[in-house]
Amino acid sequence: MTYQDTINKRRSIYALNDQLPISEDETVEVIEDAIVASPSAFNIQSAHAIILLGAQHKALWDDIVTSTLKAIVPAEAFAPTAQKIAGFSAAAGTVLYFEDDAAIASLKEQFPSYASHFDDWSAHGQGIAQVNVWNELAEKGIGANLQHYNPIIDDAVKARWDVPESYRLVAQLVFGGIAAPADEQQRQPADKRVRVVR
Ligand SMILES: Cc1cc2nc3c(=O)[nH]c(=O)nc-3n(C[C@H](O)[C@H](O)[C@H](O)COP(=O)(O)O)c2cc1C
Repeated sequence: MTYQDTINKRRSIYALNDQLPISEDETVEVIEDAIVASPSAFNIQSAHAIILLGAQHKALWDDIVTSTLKAIVPAEAFAPTAQKIAGFSAAAGTVLYFEDDAAIASLKEQFPSYASHFDDWSAHGQGIAQVNVWNELAEKGIGANLQHYNPIIDDAVKARWDVPESYRLVAQLVFGGIAAPADEQQRQPADKRVRVVR
């Protein structure tokens, strides 16, 4: 499989189950390696992750997300929300992604002339780490979808998994065995997105 094949294989896959095609330990290693190998501005390495597996993964969706949303979604409208959350809960795990705001603040202090860029670059580095993991999982035949229930779940997540104060939750990548493939999707042709100048 070429790298382009891997990139093409990465999709938002929502029909997931808890049957990973490789072991949990191998999956953890793939995620760790992808994060460690990801570049960041000034090599700040401010992207961090917590990998939730099994009961811990279920606790995120069945306890934290469900109770947080129940408090704000009207009871009569909750059924579709509950169904969506059940889909995430049925997967094998979730990667919680964080940015270390203390690291970014320290860069701003050290390099004041670049200070206005560091929030953007933090987001770019975070996105690169996220997609590298997503691609690696795809290459291993593991499906995933990216969610953003932050900031409403931040306090509960921090309390439950003892997250450092300076870490800001930025995304949740749900992953698992592929129960059904992603839908077909329209992509604009390259010439609508990329201009070549020679
Ligand atoms: C930065 C970013 C944020 C996204 N946020 C969400 C999200 O909150 N919920 C969701 O279901 N999908 C989310 N997605 C998935 C996109 O909707 C999806 O990647 C896009 O439609 C292309 O489909 P594909 O991933 O199958 O290629 C996000 C994707 C990116 C890159």
